[in-house]
Order: sequence, then structure tokens, then C-alpha cells
Amino acid sequence: MGIIFVKDREGNSHKLEAEAGSTIMEIIRDAGLEIEAACGGCCACATCHVYVEENWLSKLKTRCEEEILMLDQAFHVANTSRLCCQLEFDEQINGIVLTLAPD
Ligand code: FES
Repeated sequence: MGIIFVKDREGNSHKLEAEAGSTIMEIIRDAGLEIEAACGGCCACATCHVYVEENWLSKLKTRCEEEILMLDQAFHVANTSRLCCQLEFDEQINGIVLTLAPD
């Protein structure tokens, strides 16, 4: 069991319990925060877009081709952008800090 920190679109920070093997999208969604995740996590919608705090980026596996293609079509993309259904929680990223991208 670990934790992640998520800032919502109103600027409020949330500390969420995270279990290894879950994706970050599932953790955020199951905590009841506003994340659409329309495709259910199969990298086909970009509505699970988050910004990852810079110093955590190198701890994540790199974007796969599908994620790159989806982010190409998303709005407000930054170099810290990730689709969080593609990020599986594990010990390496315990304590990661994320911000939900605008709708
Ligand atoms: S939930 Fe659709 S791309 Fe992540």
C-alpha cells in the first residue's frame, strides 16, 4: 500500500491510498475525483490526462506509441503530460504528485 497526491481542477490537493497493480487512473477514479476516463483505460480517449510533477517523470516508464498518438490529439499538452491509465502504481512511484489536466 502506498500513496499518491492529486491536485484537482479546483486546486485542492488529495492524498489517496494506492495499491500496487492498480493504474493511477483507477486510483483517482475509485477515490471519486473528477476524471472521465471515458475509454475505461485502453488508451483511446485522453480523458485521463494528468500532469506529473517534474521530478517524478524519470521514474515512470516512457510513453508507448498509443499514448503518444492520443496525447497528440489532446488539449493543453505539456512535456509533463501523461495518460494516467497507462501508469501502473508501484513502489518506485510511491508519493508521486499529479495534477488533473483541464477538461
Ligand atoms: S482512460 Fe482513456 S486514455 Fe486513459
